[in-house]
Amino acid sequence: MQIQDKLTMPIGVFDSGIGGLTVAREIMRQLPSENVVYFGDTARVPYGSKSKNTIIRFSRQIIRFLQTKNVKAIVIACNTASALALDAVQAETPIPVIGVIAPGARAAVNMTKNKKIGVVGTEATIRSETYTKLIHSHLPDASVIGKSCPLFVPLVEEGFSKHPITEQVIDIYLADMKNTDIDTMILGCTHYPLLRSKIMAYLGERVHIVNPAYETAMDLKAVLHEQEIANTSGIPGNYEFYVSDAADKFTGFANSILPYDIATTQCINIEKY
Ligand code: DGL
Repeated sequence: MQIQDKLTMPIGVFDSGIGGLTVAREIMRQLPSENVVYFGDTARVPYGSKSKNTIIRFSRQIIRFLQTKNVKAIVIACNTASALALDAVQAETPIPVIGVIAPGARAAVNMTKNKKIGVVGTEATIRSETYTKLIHSHLPDASVIGKSCPLFVPLVEEGFSKHPITEQVIDIYLADMKNTDIDTMILGCTHYPLLRSKIMAYLGERVHIVNPAYETAMDLKAVLHEQEIANTSGIPGNYEFYVSDAADKFTGFANSILPYDIATTQCINIEKY
């Protein structure tokens, strides 16, 4: 294959649904010439309440689909899939596969002063303790407090990010966390950055918020440069969007969080892959 072809090959980004657009948005900002193929598994969301085996099976199918689009690297934008499936799929995929957990854990380690870090995420992510293990690999004496916040995802998807009911739910989930002396909090779920300002206001200024999306885009940039496959042409990237169900709902949500309107979203049968 010509080197030029490799440079213009797209980055595959996938998530259990729409939330991974917060990561895609950051990749588009930091790597504006890269072409991106995004897949949202809207037929099978949520992943956060599913078992490891199921999440690995879904991730394998999505990676096979993305490979038909000739991607040069894959970003697992979903925290749950990164926590439970990254090791398995990385070992069997011949191109770089990057998850969101390691970049988020590293950012928190760099940020914390008192080594007390909070992590919020789905039930599966928190149960896996992947964030805790990765934080401890850098900072063995850190204390990490995890909390699953399952209602945050449907609240964001219902468009309730700014609704007062969301403040009540934040209070229910995070009251205990607020009474600890954590100085850093990882938003360990794709949807939570969309509640960032409310969570920040609730926890107060002493708690620094980490959004793994930015760190993940920077990791991707480093990997593309290391492997000499970064597209630095200066030509704006081309973006394609695929889902496994409800393409119109996805398009509406994408248009509310991306800085431009997407043309179309194509629906595919992911079970075929
Ligand atoms: N994308 C998932 C994550 O980041 C949240 C939604 C779900 O449960 O599938 O963990």
